Amino acid sequence: FTLTILMILAAYTAGSISSAILVCKIRRLPDPRTQGSGNPGATNVLRIGGVSSAALVLFFDMLKGALPSYIGYKMGLDAASLGFIAVSACLGHIFPMFFGFKGGKGVATAFGAMAPIGDDLSVTLMISWVILVIVTRYSSVAAMATAVLAPVYTWYFDERFVLPVAMLSTLILIRHKDNIERLRVGEESKVSRKKKPPL
Ligand code: G3P
Repeated sequence: FTLTILMILAAYTAGSISSAILVCKIRRLPDPRTQGSGNPGATNVLRIGGVSSAALVLFFDMLKGALPSYIGYKMGLDAASLGFIAVSACLGHIFPMFFGFKGGKGVATAFGAMAPIGDDLSVTLMISWVILVIVTRYSSVAAMATAVLAPVYTWYFDERFVLPVAMLSTLILIRHKDNIERLRVGEESKVSRKKKPPL
């Protein structure tokens, strides 16, 4: 039990490391919290800094979700404990203790945290998200729709994790309330790369 609590705290701490803010700082890009959607996440870094910066953010945000849940999984913790560890990593990303508790939406971190459930689930989620981005051009719509699909896929691949995945999906959906409002009034920006400066 103590081990689970320690892992939950470690996951929250890892989740609190905002890859978007750090990558932008290191690459001398504007702070993602003050640009575009204002969200410190890979989508917004794509708007600000282009593909390579966004890929770095995506990778590290996924890693901080994947590492704690993998370690917990290897320690043989049960599905409920792994779920709390995964949720905790996402809560760290959403309310980071190192950045004034104002963070992102938890999509990449939740995706990473689901990795131990299996490659089949990860691949299915990734393909769903990519198809939805291509079809809708909205990262937020793809994330929300994939979040809704995630518990259904999980039920198919490994029933034990339906509840933990549903918790992660709920968090993600709640965090997209501003996106939902922007979609409603037609102000949500589509996925696009940083515009090249005119020659
Ligand atoms: O992963 C976050 C994405 O779903 C939306 O990001 O910057 O468009 O609010 P953003």
